[in-house]
Amino acid sequence: MLLGVNIDHIAVLREARLVNDPDPLDALGIVKRAGADQITIHLREDRRHINDTDTQNIINLSHLPVNLECSIDPAIIEIVIANKPARATIVPEKREEVTTEGGLDLKKHFDTLQETVKRLRDAGIEVSLFIDPTTEAVELSERLGVEWIELHTGHYSNLYQMLHSNLSRTPHSVAKLEVSKAQLESMLFAESEKLQYSAQFAKSLSLKVAAGHGLNYQNVKNILKIKQIEELNIGQSIIARSVFTGLEEAVREMKELVR
Ligand code: PXP
Repeated sequence: MLLGVNIDHIAVLREARLVNDPDPLDALGIVKRAGADQITIHLREDRRHINDTDTQNIINLSHLPVNLECSIDPAIIEIVIANKPARATIVPEKREEVTTEGGLDLKKHFDTLQETVKRLRDAGIEVSLFIDPTTEAVELSERLGVEWIELHTGHYSNLYQMLHSNLSRTPHSVAKLEVSKAQLESMLFAESEKLQYSAQFAKSLSLKVAAGHGLNYQNVKNILKIKQIEELNIGQSIIARSVFTGLEEAVREMKELVR
């Protein structure tokens, strides 16, 4: 399985002080040396971490393919086309969110998406859609003519954390749930089944399947059992571990799991 490392969080640390360090550009060689297969970045409309200069430099200098996450905002799409990453992953974006909280609403944005996908593909950029693991979303993705889908594992990861965390912390974007351990277990099982079924269904429609959001060194193990998933994009847990181990070791440890 391929591993894309999302390096946005390096820029989050930099932006906390509005200084130049740490520079996500310095991660490129390290991530490649550690055995990862792709660099993933998100150019958000509010530029809260990765900015236009990062985007340009990372795409120009990376020896690994760059997967650029973006919204359907026309100004952002212009930048994507000008920079020509290997892949553009279209994600929903809300300014007030802490991180990307759900998959794209493909029905609502179908016409805009169709036009955007065409523009990106005409520019020679592979397109992926970040979607919730539902039959409808997979079907609509196929109709939109993309090469890839990325299944949102955020709900799975949140349930996993609630079930396994000793601190019983409720992750961001999750309403406090008053449920028993048994209920959480069955919700986690149901979400894993949805991911499994959606991956299988997408593969049967000849879509390539990636997955990501909230994955870490523990919860990734169930996801690895879904053989139709070809690639995982992981950021926060790798960058968090790198604070203690260094980035190369943190990526290497993840790549040892994701193979
Ligand atoms: N995939 C997509 C589409 C994302 O938006 C993100 C978060 O930027 C990730 C993967 C990585 O998520 P995390 O940082 O939680 O591993």
